[in-house]
Order: sequence, then structure tokens, then C-alpha cells
Amino acid sequence: MCGIVGYVGHRDALDVVLRGLGRLEYRGYDSAGVAVLTSAGMLAVARKAGALANLIDELDATGRAALRGTAGMGHTRWATHGAPTDRNAHPHRDTAGRLAVVHNGIIENHAQLRAELEHGGVELASDTDTETAAHLLAAAYARYGDLPLALRMVCRRLSGAFTLVVTHIDEPDLIVAARRSSPLVVGVGNGEHFIASDVAAFIEHTRNAVELGQDQVVTITRDGYQITDFHGARAHGSPFHVDWDLSAAEKGGHDYFMLKEIQEQPSAIANTLRGHFIDGRIVLDEQRMDTQELRDVDKVFVVACGTAYHSGMVAKYAIEHWCRLPVEVELASEFRYRDPVLDRSTLVVAISQSGETMDTLEAVRHAREQKARVLAICNTNGAQIPRESDAVLYTHAGPEIGVAATKTFLAQIVANFLVGLALAQARGTKYADEVAREFAELEAMPAAVAQVLGTVAAVRELGRELAPAKVVLFLGRHVGFPVALEGALKLKELAYMHAEGFAAGELKHGAIALLEEGLPVVVVMPSPKGRAVLHAKLLSNIQEIRARGARTIVIAEEGDETVRPYAAHLLEVPAVPTLLQPLVSTVPLQVLAAEIARQRGYDVDKPRNLAKSVTVE
Ligand code: G6P
Repeated sequence: MCGIVGYVGHRDALDVVLRGLGRLEYRGYDSAGVAVLTSAGMLAVARKAGALANLIDELDATGRAALRGTAGMGHTRWATHGAPTDRNAHPHRDTAGRLAVVHNGIIENHAQLRAELEHGGVELASDTDTETAAHLLAAAYARYGDLPLALRMVCRRLSGAFTLVVTHIDEPDLIVAARRSSPLVVGVGNGEHFIASDVAAFIEHTRNAVELGQDQVVTITRDGYQITDFHGARAHGSPFHVDWDLSAAEKGGHDYFMLKEIQEQPSAIANTLRGHFIDGRIVLDEQRMDTQELRDVDKVFVVACGTAYHSGMVAKYAIEHWCRLPVEVELASEFRYRDPVLDRSTLVVAISQSGETMDTLEAVRHAREQKARVLAICNTNGAQIPRESDAVLYTHAGPEIGVAATKTFLAQIVANFLVGLALAQARGTKYADEVAREFAELEAMPAAVAQVLGTVAAVRELGRELAPAKVVLFLGRHVGFPVALEGALKLKELAYMHAEGFAAGELKHGAIALLEEGLPVVVVMPSPKGRAVLHAKLLSNIQEIRARGARTIVIAEEGDETVRPYAAHLLEVPAVPTLLQPLVSTVPLQVLAAEIARQRGYDVDKPRNLAKSVTVE
């Protein structure tokens, strides 16, 4: 939540920072702002409410000459404290305007700090928590005359989660930044250095990065970087090489990142599977727990938020079926507040695309405090959740920039299956040849998803028809239930349409009262060949819906003739094993939501009020 970029080098800092912010907008787009230490020795700031484009328009209109310099920083905001206005946009300055700060996270003791500052005669110019840090930093700098030291001293006074980046007019050759819980990476270039919330911000300049650890401060200059902890002791980040390039962070001819990411789903699945079946065995990416510990697991909790939570629901069906282990799937935001029963033999699977969702991170911390083992499924190398886990499986889906998760959802489902197979293998609930067969079925999925992508035109056509609808309901059973929830979530977040997903069996316990003439109801049908009983039950549900005049949109396996007479619209997907059906049946729902949003004139990549990475609780 909130994107941050800092730069010291030989290029035009404003240009580097604006381009970087353009790739971080998925983190928030309530306002954008930049600060440049200019060649004329000034600290120049520009900031504007709304998307980055507003700021760029303003800079283009007023001219960029006043912001020329080779050191600067920028911010794209997801508002927490203070409305999304110009005055609350970052960077924030001290009273003298000699220092500027951008911030990601929440300073939880801001009210107390604000009262203290006001008591001391400081007039705050915004409603943000961030501005308190600007004034504290000015005072600390006045006292110590050393910006990294001033930042360390201030960080020790702050509580909450924060990344702070600071520039000072008297320190034109450096930028300092601090990290607690929120992400921060350093980009190491030749005669230039970067700091950012995500490598995407500087990927066009360097693929050499260093992940900062918890409670660390970094100083970047043209020629290097230096890391310490909050007490000044030398520290080291974790260097890594980014294995994707600029093209992965660009739209590649599509109107929206989301549409490109939907198309990338076959390769997201293939890349997530690659290298995880070696010598007949499933292997994870990082395993700081031994096979005996996996064998001793007697209960599994899956914790996640949003789309990742829906992928976790699919995990339950697979793990219980393959491993005969009880699995509970829990929203990460609820998990630690209800005193879950955890011990050494509990495995907590934490699923997070970003690896930085605060609710999921706190759930991981709670689980580990209770001595449970934690296995992270994550799409972001070295993010906080995998760093704090006992084992990690990465979804190698590549960067996902559209705020609504698509390719990472499918990759998470695949990763969940790999975890299920790893557990089954360790616990001996599946023979090696069975594990190999399941893995081979997964390997066939990229082709099946590619086949669904071949039907995009028909789904878009349906999207055009449904665009005026006010309400859409989604129904599914078994693994079709999380698909229904995900289909409804996509429609809510992209098209701002009231959409609800239900377990089809629950329909008659309330939701059926919503049905009326012409109301669109999307039904996710199971395969007639897989679990025949499920198929029969859903067929009855469809009749109940039609009897009440609703319009049935049915996603069914190709060749399923039994359903055809009852479908106002039939969207066919290829036949795949029952547990793997979400990998094919979710795809039309993603396309449908995107098309309805486009028809309604909304920005598919940047739905209102949302951010891709939610670093506040
Ligand atoms: C936000 C995003 C969702 C995502 C959820 C969990 O709400 O908009 O797309 O599913 O966070 O994010 P995570 O990074 O933990 O998977």
C-alpha cells in the first residue's frame, strides 16, 4: 500500500521517479507526489490528488524546469490518515521546507506525536500521520546534523509499520530510508542507486537488488549504499538478482495489465510447476523444516486474504482428500483474534501474492509464537511473509500489476496442490506413482487454460450484454464454490456491481429470495464424469433458478449436453480432473468482469478505493 521510489545518480531524477511511480501505482492511486534536490540547491516538491497522470499533467503544464536534479523521490498514495487531497499528498515537509518525507504504512502513535508537536508550537499542515515524522526528523537533524542518525532516532520513537524515505536540502547527495514491516528494496546500478517498494520501479535500470531486513536504515548515494539497524550497527540486506525484465512490467500491446495477465496464465502455471518435481519427488523452494516435521503435521490452517483466500479454499479440498488431514481455511484478519488452537504439529499455510499483506503477516507471526510451523506461498521473492516462514513455495507468475489478482490466483491454486502433494508424499498417504500422476495432470493445465483463453471473444460478448445489470449472483459446489466467490469478487472490485457468490446448496436457505425475472445467475458446473452426484445436484439447482425466471449463465465442461437446455448462456471449458476445475472455470469469470468494467467505462487496472498490496490492518 503506497508506492515509494528514491533515486541518486546521474540521470534526471524527476524522470526516473515518475517512471518508477508509474509501475507502482498498483499500490495506491489516491495521490502522487515528488521531491527533487535540484541542481540550483533547492528542495522542490510537487504533489497532486488523484492518479499519477494528474501530477504529470500539472508538471507538463507548469514546466519541469524547477525540478531538475539528480536526486529525488516520489510517492503514490493509498490514503489511510487524511482524505485523498492535494494537502495530504506526500511528500510532507518540515515547517522550514528543508526536508521532505514519503511514507508507506501507519505510524500508530501519530496522535500522541501530533499532540506533542502541537504542544511545542509546531503547526501541522496536513491530516496525515506522516507529517509528524517530518517534524520529528527536522528536530533530530537540527540536533545531530546527520540524516541517517536523525532517521534512526526517529524510527525508534515510532510504532506501527512504516517505510520512510527522507531527503534534506543540506544533504543533496544522499537519500535515506527506513523499513519496518513495509517493503523496501535497494536497486544497485552503475553510478546510481535506487530505493523502492518494489523492484518494478527500477527494473529498466538495474536487475541487481538488495532486500532490506526488518528495522533497518539504508543510505543511498551515487556510488553505493550503506545499511544499519535502528541503533547504527552495520547490517546487511539480502542481495538478489531479479529474474524478469522490463517487458514483464509493461502492457505488451494490451489496453490493460489485467488483460495481459489473464493471457499469461498458462505460463504462470507452467512456471510455478517448474523445478518442483525432481527424481520422483515434490520439492519446495525453501524448507527450513525437515521431512519428519511435515510427517508430524496433524492439522492444517490456511490463512490468506481476498483472492488468495479463495485459492486457500481450493487447497482444503485437495489436502483433505490427498492427505487425510483436517484443514481449516481462515481469513487472516480473523485468525489471530479468535485464539486458534495451534501447536508444534500444526501447519499454517499462509498464501499471499505480495508477501506483505499485514493481516496475513500478523497471522504468520501469531502462528509462530504459538509454535506452529508456517509454510508461505508467495509471488514476491524475499518478501516479509516468506522471510518469516519455515518453508516457502513461490508462485512464479511474474509481476502482477493489475490490482485485481488473476494469474496469481491460478498460480496459487497450483502451489496449493504442490503443498498437498508434498504433504501426501511425506505422510505416505499417496504412493510415489500417484504423486507423479497428479503432477502430470497439473502439467497438462497450461494447455487447458490456453484453450479457455481461445473463447475470450464469446465471453466478452456476454460481458457487453450483462453490462447494464445491477446484481449478478454466482453459484458453485465443492471446488466450484470458491470459483463462485472469486467470480463475484472480480465483478465487485472491477465493475462496482453488486455480486454475491454462494454455495449452491445454500441458495434455498435465503438467497433464492433475491431471484427475479431476468436476474443473471452464473452457475459453475462440475464435470458430469467426475463427481456425478455433484453434477446432478447442481442441475437441480439450475432448474430452481430457472423456475423463478432468473437468467442462467452456465460454465460447464465441453460436451456436457445435459446442461445445455437449461442454460441461457453456455460457456464451455475443457474437461479436467475435478480438483483442477477452478483452473479453467475461473478464467471466463475474470474476462467477464473485465469486460463489464470496460463497458461501464472503468479503469480495469486501478479499481477505485483498492490497492494491490494492503500493508495496514
Ligand atoms: C488486496 C488485493 C487483492 C488480493 C488481496 C490479498 O485486497 O486487491 O487482489 O487478493 O489484497 O493480497 P495478497 O498479496 O496477500 O495475496
